[in-house]
Amino acid sequence: MKVLGIESSCDETACAIVEDGKRIISNVVATQIPFHQIYKGVVPEIASRKHAEWILPVVRQALSEAKMTLSEVDAIAATNRPGLMGSLLVGLTFGKTLAWSCNKPFLAVNHMLGHMYAAHLENDISYPYLGLLVSGGHSIIAKVNGFDDLEILGTTIDDSVGEAFDKVAKYYDLGYPGGVIIDGLAKKGDSHAYSFPVPKLDKGDHRYDVSFSGLKTAVIHQSQMFLNKGFEPSVENLAASFQETACRTLVGRLMRAVEDTGLKTVVAGGGVAANSRLRAMLAEHTDLNCIFPPLKLCGDNGAMIAGVAYHFLKRGDRSGWNTTACARIPQFKRGLANLEAFGRR
Ligand code: KG4
Ligand code: ZN
Repeated sequence: MKVLGIESSCDETACAIVEDGKRIISNVVATQIPFHQIYKGVVPEIASRKHAEWILPVVRQALSEAKMTLSEVDAIAATNRPGLMGSLLVGLTFGKTLAWSCNKPFLAVNHMLGHMYAAHLENDISYPYLGLLVSGGHSIIAKVNGFDDLEILGTTIDDSVGEAFDKVAKYYDLGYPGGVIIDGLAKKGDSHAYSFPVPKLDKGDHRYDVSFSGLKTAVIHQSQMFLNKGFEPSVENLAASFQETACRTLVGRLMRAVEDTGLKTVVAGGGVAANSRLRAMLAEHTDLNCIFPPLKLCGDNGAMIAGVAYHFLKRGDRSGWNTTACARIPQFKRGLANLEAFGRR
């Protein structure tokens, strides 16, 4: 079965065609980065307008690269949450309209399920495993029992890890988006140059939770040290030290989950899964089977949406024409019904 997947939750207008939830036939990602760069962050109004402008050409290009017509597609899927409301509505409404007009099944897909699925597009991975979902909006450690069955073990109590990368980069005027820039600068820096705090969060409920707000503040305060103590500022050292601490925070919590659950397979997903230090740090754990999506599937793309939708489709699920978008998914907390968080039908 061939599914056309649309993704428009943030600043990429994307469409892909995937066969049987595995084989990527085409995968088009039109990035809006140059339009947001001058503002050093995503401007929601610009994002929605660009999606509205690009969605049709992007879908057409995905079909043309696949050498397919719409009639050869078995179902249409689109992200409906979480994300920027205006952006989500463009892709969702486009997807529903397309499906309705050609009488195809429509599937709405949770963006985070998409990120968790990305590694499955190129790999046969069996459940259960530990999922590390790290993006601009989320930082989640979960026990993953199936494509739409995530038991949340831990999450961030404040900023997401991607947000911390972006905010540090913005403060030091390193460029946008911050993650990939810091990753690049860090390669030339000394990760021991500055010492930043790893959050404790050791008490009961927070065993697998992470926090990045304190780290972000400490990195920002470092600029005062440069001024007050006459330190030679080095953005490379700063980037390396920050990145090292952020990755250590994530990996430390993940290892607790490994010990407690006995699960030896770890699958990462989301934009921050592209981070080279995170990949290297996990690779040091040779007793684990750590699986990362290829770089092109870490960021937002339509293939991960089509991949998840295939499994809904196979199970007989369909989304109604009244399916709406949702900017947020309920705060992830251990014990909170996944049904609610992930929209299992
Ligand atoms: O998954 P994604 O494309 O969008 C969301 O769903 O949020 O993730 C975007 C986030 C941004 O915060 C970006 O700075 C971060 O992923 N990112 C990285 C890297 N590449 C992208 N963070 C660290 N290292 C990278 N190489
Ligand atoms: Zn994303």
